[in-house]
Amino acid sequence: MLNIAVLVSGGGTNLQALIDSERNGEIKNGKIVRVISSKADAYAIERAKKVGIPAVVVERKKYENSQQYDEAILSALEESKADLVVLAGFMSILGASVIRKYENKIINIHPALIPSFCGKGFYGLKVHEAALEKGVKVTGATVHFVNEIADDGAIILQECIKVNDDDTPQTLQRRVMENIEWKILPKAVSLFCEGKIEVVGSKTKIKE
Ligand code: GRF
Repeated sequence: MLNIAVLVSGGGTNLQALIDSERNGEIKNGKIVRVISSKADAYAIERAKKVGIPAVVVERKKYENSQQYDEAILSALEESKADLVVLAGFMSILGASVIRKYENKIINIHPALIPSFCGKGFYGLKVHEAALEKGVKVTGATVHFVNEIADDGAIILQECIKVNDDDTPQTLQRRVMENIEWKILPKAVSLFCEGKIEVVGSKTKIKE
């Protein structure tokens, strides 16, 4: 059974999807053991408390520099004995020391089809605003490993949906979350915990 630490910053709907999937037995060989929030007021913390998952707050602004912040994140992860780190709406930057220690053991959910609308500055609603501005006919979400370049790690799972003519950034974000993010993130976590994700260079092979 692998220990899963989930890093959050906001509403925690992706965390909730993981909690619900675990409860439904859809995360094979994995257990959420810790929630680490970069914000003290993140509703994700309430979601963790409701189901008895220990939650800690590690706020970037409490640390003088990014190195001290990374050390605080590392000690929280070591304490939880995390085998897998999941970024679920996590809005802080993880430094190289964290990423190197957990190489190909940190996964992130990005609300677009990487390599579209990703990288520095593309997060949350901004991603959907850019997709609508470009006039794409399909969009979606990507689960990928985290490396030292934003949204650049090996892609694990992607799914797409049609963009409607009357979509706003808000309606598109909601549909991507409900129909894709909350499905492919738990699926990717389960595949990882089942040992079914093979990293080959900068890509992955999924053993179904
Ligand atoms: C979602 O759009 C997700 O794609 C992005 O953060 C947003 C909020 O996620 N990574 P959550 O509701 O806090 O899980």
